[in-house]
Amino acid sequence: MRNKIVAGNWKMNLDADEAESLYRDLLNKSLGQSDGKMTLIFPPNIYLKDFIEKNNGSFEIGAQNVNAQKNGAYTGEVSASQLKSIGCSWVLVGHSERRTLFNEDDKVLLDKINSALEYGLNVIYCCGESLNERKELRHKSKIQSQLAILKAFSLEQIKSISIAYEPIWAIGTGKTASPDQAAEMHDFIREELKILFGSEASDQTSILYGGSCSPSNAEVLFKCHNIDGGLIGGAALNADSFRSIIEFLK
Ligand code: PGA
Repeated sequence: MRNKIVAGNWKMNLDADEAESLYRDLLNKSLGQSDGKMTLIFPPNIYLKDFIEKNNGSFEIGAQNVNAQKNGAYTGEVSASQLKSIGCSWVLVGHSERRTLFNEDDKVLLDKINSALEYGLNVIYCCGESLNERKELRHKSKIQSQLAILKAFSLEQIKSISIAYEPIWAIGTGKTASPDQAAEMHDFIREELKILFGSEASDQTSILYGGSCSPSNAEVLFKCHNIDGGLIGGAALNADSFRSIIEFLK
């Protein structure tokens, strides 16, 4: 069956001492991966190599971004081959902050996923609607169009892609989607994946919820049939709250 995943997206937070201290806390909390249950962390790039070297197997480590090019004159960017070469195993693509603040469009996101897959990285592909899109009842069509870019990938490739449903209005706002809202969208995403890739591939794909997920709401969210875990921002910056969220994953 599909993996259950809790992933912590640290974003551009924590200086070196703070990051080291959180990382040590997480290592000590034995977040152990077990059958079909995975913990991932996405720290800022500058900490990746050090953390990967110190990892005790409690979790897998990924990058928050990747450039689609292999190498070359792309000042400030990091490629999938470079991430792979330091032992990184996951990458986030399509986070709403990248889409809106860095103008990443479908073409860029497609190229990024292609490059990540070429180098054997697993991808969490994020999708989500804005508050206006929801108010105007365009939330499903928005997700449908964001998922449509995935049809470029084969059944084999889709095995390396997980989805995170992150309503933009819930990210960093403290306003979590209600279990009904989240469940409706996760069911919809599962159906869309079925249309794109067939039932077997759709059933195997993990769909995570993201957007103000915390120890106070994770339990009820994770009980929803098609919610296979969470992509956690703010609550991943504290080892105790991150661990509590992981414990709700059954
Ligand atoms: P949040 O962020 O948990 O702080 O809302 C989630 C995310 O952006 O992935």
